[in-house]
Amino acid sequence: MEKPVTRYCCNQLWLVILVSFVFCFVLFCFDYSALTGTQERVSVSVSNYEDSISTHKSKSLQLPENVNETSIGPMKSDYLREDNVQQKSVKDSCLGRYIFIHRLPSQFNQELIENCESINRGTEHNICPYLVNSALGHEVENSQGILLNKSWYSTNQFLLEVIFHFRMKKYKCLTNDSSLASAIYVPFYAGLDVSRYLWGFKTSVRDQSGYDLVKWLVEKPEWKKMLGRDHFLVAGRIAWDFRRQTDNESDWGSKLRFLPESNNMSMLAIESSSWNNDYAIPYPTCFHPSKDMNVMRLFQNSVFCLQPPGDSYTRRSMFDSILAGCIPVFFHPDPSSRMGTTEDAFDLAVKGILDRIERVRRITREGRDPSIGFADGDDYKYTFSGYVGET
Ligand SMILES: *[C@@H]1O[C@H](CO)[C@@H](O)[C@H](O)[C@H]1NC(C)=O
Ligand SMILES: *[C@@H]1O[C@H](CO)[C@@H](O)[C@H](O)[C@H]1NC(C)=O
Ligand SMILES: *[C@@H]1O[C@H](CO)[C@@H](O)[C@H](O)[C@H]1NC(C)=O
Ligand SMILES: *[C@@H]1O[C@H](CO)[C@@H](O)[C@H](O)[C@H]1NC(C)=O
Ligand SMILES: *[C@@H]1O[C@H](CO)[C@@H](O)[C@H](O)[C@H]1NC(C)=O
Repeated sequence: MEKPVTRYCCNQLWLVILVSFVFCFVLFCFDYSALTGTQERVSVSVSNYEDSISTHKSKSLQLPENVNETSIGPMKSDYLREDNVQQKSVKDSCLGRYIFIHRLPSQFNQELIENCESINRGTEHNICPYLVNSALGHEVENSQGILLNKSWYSTNQFLLEVIFHFRMKKYKCLTNDSSLASAIYVPFYAGLDVSRYLWGFKTSVRDQSGYDLVKWLVEKPEWKKMLGRDHFLVAGRIAWDFRRQTDNESDWGSKLRFLPESNNMSMLAIESSSWNNDYAIPYPTCFHPSKDMNVMRLFQNSVFCLQPPGDSYTRRSMFDSILAGCIPVFFHPDPSSRMGTTEDAFDLAVKGILDRIERVRRITREGRDPSIGFADGDDYKYTFSGYVGET
């Protein structure tokens, strides 16, 4: 009685083991290809595998010899695109990307940093110690070995506007000739400014810097060119802190973004509002791999993954992060140490702003009114249903 049952069990067991083995093997192949970044080339057979990995790693963009070229079409076009970019860069790679930084009176930025100890309400900590390392904070050292030493920075989210300013000073297409500039950056530390007055101050006090700023801006020759529509600023607080809709003293925040001049500008903030001229960029969580290492292993142990340098055009690393179960965040402390073409939150934000301003220029050239849609309220930004973007 026992024996047949055992045999039956064993047969079943072997079947299960065999199926599991095949299944695991398939999974392993799939997973490995996903982790090593060859998803773009899933049509490449396993025998070409080594080739594709080394192609990717060496960044030489050479095609594996024994692969049918049409099956790796996307690779080839990347290849051509890079040639194109290189040809253009011989002319002027900055064309259409020049940015002019306004030299604001120090009350709008530098003085806020110098008086950092006065900003301590609602920021959880005294922000002063976080101003080191281009405002990314000090390097995190940990004896538990959870994080890699010298790879993570202790970054304060409210310093986004300062971090952005530091990065912008190193942006490679800066110009002092504003007539050449595609965008005008206004380095006003709006968040630090308003956080001094958010609690227990009259609305007139909360609004004062905003009035002073726009008064200064409209008198500059740069304003006249596009009436501020090529201007942008960055805030390390949520956009709602600048969107007080009434002058009722009990309402929250300043009304900076409702001033008519400010309304003509775009703002990047750590959380956008539902108006079209506010844009969200990621919280400045910061990771910087100091040396070669197994990035995937680190990702798997992380909640937030910053996109490290040295990746492909398609930002494969973002998919790696998601695969490894962590949330991708895009910032990089030192633009000069980045390898080649990697884009981080700063680059993407700048690109987004330049595109937006270019759209406004096109609308103006076509004789249409650029104010239509520019600063409209848009509830779809919160519901995500059927939002098709601006035209
Ligand atoms: C490459 O593959 C495509 C279809 O995948 C086929 O039509 C073509 O003939 C192949 N080319 C060569 C050179 O084998
Ligand atoms: C990181 O630094 C701390 C303090 O200096 C040290 O105790 C620890 O061993 C280091 N960890 C690693 C992984 O190097
Ligand atoms: C712009 O002018 C400032 C001061 O005159 C100078 O330090 C800076 O290098 C100039 N920047 C560019 C991009 O020419
Ligand atoms: C201001 O807001 C408070 C609380 O919402 C409300 O009770 C008050 O009536 C408002 N005052 C005015 C003048 O609207
Ligand atoms: C904002 O831009 C519109 C044109 O789009 C212009 O009519 C208006 O005067 C500008 N506002 C200010 C304060 O410059």
